[in-house]
Amino acid sequence: MALNVVIMAAGKGTRMRSARPKVLHTLAGQSLLQHVLQRAAALQPQRTLVITGHEAEQVERHVSATAPEVRCVRQQPQLGTGHAVLQASPALDASAGTTLILNGDVPLIEPATAQALATACGGERLALLTVTLDDPTGYGRIVRSADGTQVQAIVEHKDASEAQRAIREVYTGMMAAPTAALQRWVAALKNDNAQQEYYLTDIVAMAVAEGVPVVAASAADETEVLGVNSPAQLADLERRLQRRQAQALLEAGVRLADPARFDQRGTLACGQDVEIDVNCLFEGTVSLGDGVRVGANCVIRNATIAAGAVIHPFTHIDGDKDGVTVGEGALIGPFARLRPGAVLGREVHIGNFVEVKNSTLANGAKANHLAYLGDATVGERVNYGAGSITANYDGANKHRTVIGADVHVGSNCVLIAPVTLGEGGTIGGGSTISKDTPPGQLTVARARQVSLGGWTRPKKAPKP
Ligand code: UD1
Ligand code: MG
Repeated sequence: MALNVVIMAAGKGTRMRSARPKVLHTLAGQSLLQHVLQRAAALQPQRTLVITGHEAEQVERHVSATAPEVRCVRQQPQLGTGHAVLQASPALDASAGTTLILNGDVPLIEPATAQALATACGGERLALLTVTLDDPTGYGRIVRSADGTQVQAIVEHKDASEAQRAIREVYTGMMAAPTAALQRWVAALKNDNAQQEYYLTDIVAMAVAEGVPVVAASAADETEVLGVNSPAQLADLERRLQRRQAQALLEAGVRLADPARFDQRGTLACGQDVEIDVNCLFEGTVSLGDGVRVGANCVIRNATIAAGAVIHPFTHIDGDKDGVTVGEGALIGPFARLRPGAVLGREVHIGNFVEVKNSTLANGAKANHLAYLGDATVGERVNYGAGSITANYDGANKHRTVIGADVHVGSNCVLIAPVTLGEGGTIGGGSTISKDTPPGQLTVARARQVSLGGWTRPKKAPKP
């Protein structure tokens, strides 16, 4: 079905008490508007329009960065929801017979529900998404015929009579309308009401007067139609979404220690028998292979973790743009930090207070304590001692350190890049290595130890 989608996002969002436009606040790591845009894109509309107004430039930049095919239409000033749709009216694709109206601050609308609404319209009927609430205060009420079958109008809370205020079926702010009729109706709206606004909801009575059928579809789950007006509502929706994501993982067999203490801001793919302890945060694109265990309080972003790896508590893995790869059976942490471009082979061990950035560690390499590996290529089975670091940055340029297979780097070494350590060599503890080292030999680069027999400690002068 050919479809236009209009997303209303011009409102101010006063109750957020924020300098940031409301629709750019984030839910599970992405903006409210992005949630709506993604869900709208699932319907493959002919055209999608976002109505901007308050902080329009900022919202428009966000739209062009995240959904370049979407057009923005300015509404200046904001004279109500009907006035908003009127601004979009000339930009609607006339060949798309149905226009679906969504809200930029109602992020969790299910594509299936939006599709059902568009289908109920079918280019011929006015389809309203409604929900029945225990407390309908503030919402537009669905006024029906005496026998309850026909929708006759939507009356805004502020304009409603006492009897109408008792109605618990309300308009969610989402509807689908025949495109040509919608264009005609919004052009004819008046603002003679309590708020002196052009109400989009007044088109219902116009449709009824013209004999256009008005149908109401109801949302399966109230979470789908909840809007965000305040930080408290945003936090509530975040928990609902997190709970839902956690539930899906549990159903897929992932063992979350506590679904209430789990956060996923992006996509998380899990193999079989994955275990995730409490307070872990997954961001961007993360994949956990079969049998991966993640300890408590880990933050993992843009990373691929192979089967059987164990991530001990308090580990921070941030792949950012380059990603992080952890090989099969690797042991990471506790308190480890893996940064962009860390590529770890099978059974690599990275222990506490070890930082790895833009470095490859081949199978079985180990850096167990207090170390830094930056811009390094580390061979198989290397043992990298406690307190050792690569000095990879000369203040202007970054240089590589290459450590051959089976090298043992003692404790507290400084490897001044560019430098290559030959295979099977040993570097004595405390060495500062500034030249390449030969394979198979012990290299020591530190002052020779001396002991002086005739030396006496200085003594303090006696107090006068
Ligand atoms: C609207 C509906 C009401 C419904 C409720 C559901 C109207 C007249 N009323 O009321 O029946 O129950 O939503 O939440 O439509 N916006 C613009 N330009 C404007 C005004 C608003 O783009 O000039 C946008 C807002 O950013 C928001 C949406 O339209 O995304 C709804 O506006 P809002 O002011 O929240 O309408 P309500 O009074 O809540
Ligand atoms: Mg509202």
